[in-house]
Amino acid sequence: MTHVEARTRLKEIYGHPVGRDAIDKVLLQLGRSSRWVRNPVVANLRLDTVARLARPVLGEAFAQSLVTVLADHGPDDDPTPDPAPSGHGAAQPPWWRRAVFYQVYPRSFADSDGDGIGDLRGVTSRLDHLADLGVDCVWLSPIFDSPNEDMGYDVRDYRAIMAEMGTLADLDALIAGAHERGMRIILDLVVNHTSAEHPWFRAAIADPDGPYGDYYHLRPGAPGEDGSGPPPNNWASFFGGSAWRWIPQAQRWALHLFAPGQMDLNWDNPRVRAEVAEIVRWWRARGVDGFRLDVINYISKRGGLPDGNEAIGALMGFPGIEHYFFGPRLHSYLRELRTAGFTRSPGEPAPPSTVRTRRPDGTLGDPAPPDPVAIMVGETPGVGVEMSRLLSGSRRGELDLVFNFDVLEGPGKVRWDDYRYDLSYLKRFYLGYLARVGPDDALALFFDNHDNPRMLSKVLGARAGDPVLRTALAKALATIQLTLPGTPFLFQGQEIAAVDQDFTSVADLRDVESLNRFAELRAEGSTEADALARILPGARDHARVPMRWEPGPSTGFSTGTPWQAGREDSTGFTVAEQAADPGSVLNFHRDLIGLRRAEPALTDGGFRALASRSRTYFGWLRTAPGSGSDWLIEVNLTDRTIRRPRALPRAQVVLGSTGMERSATMAPYECVISRVSPGP
Ligand code: NOJ
Ligand code: MG
Repeated sequence: MTHVEARTRLKEIYGHPVGRDAIDKVLLQLGRSSRWVRNPVVANLRLDTVARLARPVLGEAFAQSLVTVLADHGPDDDPTPDPAPSGHGAAQPPWWRRAVFYQVYPRSFADSDGDGIGDLRGVTSRLDHLADLGVDCVWLSPIFDSPNEDMGYDVRDYRAIMAEMGTLADLDALIAGAHERGMRIILDLVVNHTSAEHPWFRAAIADPDGPYGDYYHLRPGAPGEDGSGPPPNNWASFFGGSAWRWIPQAQRWALHLFAPGQMDLNWDNPRVRAEVAEIVRWWRARGVDGFRLDVINYISKRGGLPDGNEAIGALMGFPGIEHYFFGPRLHSYLRELRTAGFTRSPGEPAPPSTVRTRRPDGTLGDPAPPDPVAIMVGETPGVGVEMSRLLSGSRRGELDLVFNFDVLEGPGKVRWDDYRYDLSYLKRFYLGYLARVGPDDALALFFDNHDNPRMLSKVLGARAGDPVLRTALAKALATIQLTLPGTPFLFQGQEIAAVDQDFTSVADLRDVESLNRFAELRAEGSTEADALARILPGARDHARVPMRWEPGPSTGFSTGTPWQAGREDSTGFTVAEQAADPGSVLNFHRDLIGLRRAEPALTDGGFRALASRSRTYFGWLRTAPGSGSDWLIEVNLTDRTIRRPRALPRAQVVLGSTGMERSATMAPYECVISRVSPGP
């Protein structure tokens, strides 16, 4: 579509990748099915009619906003011939297609020096745990020098290690130790913004008209009598209030989509883009295998930074998002960064170490040659399926993998809502997603990370305290994550069935997002208890408590006082206890990852859903090309005993949560991985 106007029909908008994502998102948020748009009567409505009908919900300017965003992306915007292909679809799939990733939140993983803060030597001391589990690539959440207004997501120096985490030498040792054990290592690249303490920002505000003034989004204006505005536009910060703060010293407003100390970089400035590419090259030379790129879809902002549409703001909670969730130059900036930063140039010296290859039986081989392109994993909040494809399609030369967050909350829900997640939505989400991808697309599969409460708790609520249900569901989720087509990202603790914490006071919380939200609710008149009750369902702290290595108050995390205390004291849910129990969640993960490595059909095989309309049974086949065997994977999505659908293929159980038999029924959250028997 080259031209969108009032007479354009809804189906044409829905046929445009961003149009489809936007409409799907609105429907999801309103808790409606997208089947609605495919109804022929609705599909044929003209945009001006839709705008008129939707006015009570979406307001006047909604259609216009949509049209503006659509014009920036899509089929017309085909890339220049792939500058640095990520190669899926090629004869040899890239390593990450088969890999299991594991996210470490270093502050809470292992503390080597007793200061209560997890550190790099702590991670190194636990590398054997990760290698035994079968991890192929470790992602470390931020470890760069930072004032920690947002736990390292506010970087002060991209080439130095945060003092409490250790030194560059410690990181070198960690990289070498991971490679030696057959694991790659990626770091977190937080370059939508820097800390306000970064020298670039200091220089920018010391002399806004000087060479660094244009590194950020600085705007002249008046602060108003009480210093509050009006700011340059109505964009909101994700951590509360306006996205602008007045810097008296510079007589400028400065944009911060996150905390007031996280200053958005101006990616339209080529010098900023060159600096970022240089940082990536610097870390690659030290042996880092790639990066996870923080909120990377936010880097390109619409020129002039116009006000956000009020209706979109009200619906999504944050005015302004349509001007930067998929900004106008996003694709070209990513391609440039891929080429200039992530791609090895001819003659580039080899890094100090590379990963040792791992054979299908898990044993280690020789070090692999350096990767031609270091992996780019995009953290991309707000993108739908089509935009995910535009950002990570293998021919597009942009990212390799992206996180699509729509799986994390049920229809019409946001993270702060107190509700039980229905796993039939998770099934629907993945079947819908998989039906829309082709051989050029890749999915990242994840349920937990440091920004979300634990999926186990979202599904089970208070019943996550029941060890039987907790164990069964943890194995079921592992089965889904490790055998659907896609690249799994485990988050620390998932392998031992970590659940949310029973926080009882705001004093338990450390996260700037929750603390700001708490303060806002209090200012609006909520009681302390009420405000706490309203933030706990979504608090990021749940996933940030120390790793439970062994029983006892310290959980083996630290000999000192942890920076944040976990409140859980259940028996049986530590690494040490589970390592000793053959039926544990930990050993289930190990066995399943081992099976995945040995049986290529589980990673590369075709996919066919069975009983796709069932809300209780999730079953699928991974089909092997040629002579290999097919696999049948089955999960009971409920806490009840269910009947298996009829007419399933005959199959032999290889790994299961409750035993080696397949009967007519499945136990609550039972999961079974079976080899399909040959013959009719
Ligand atoms: C996403 C990160 O995962 C989150 O922890 C952080 O607060 C924001 N980006 C801002 O950097
Ligand atoms: Mg420490």
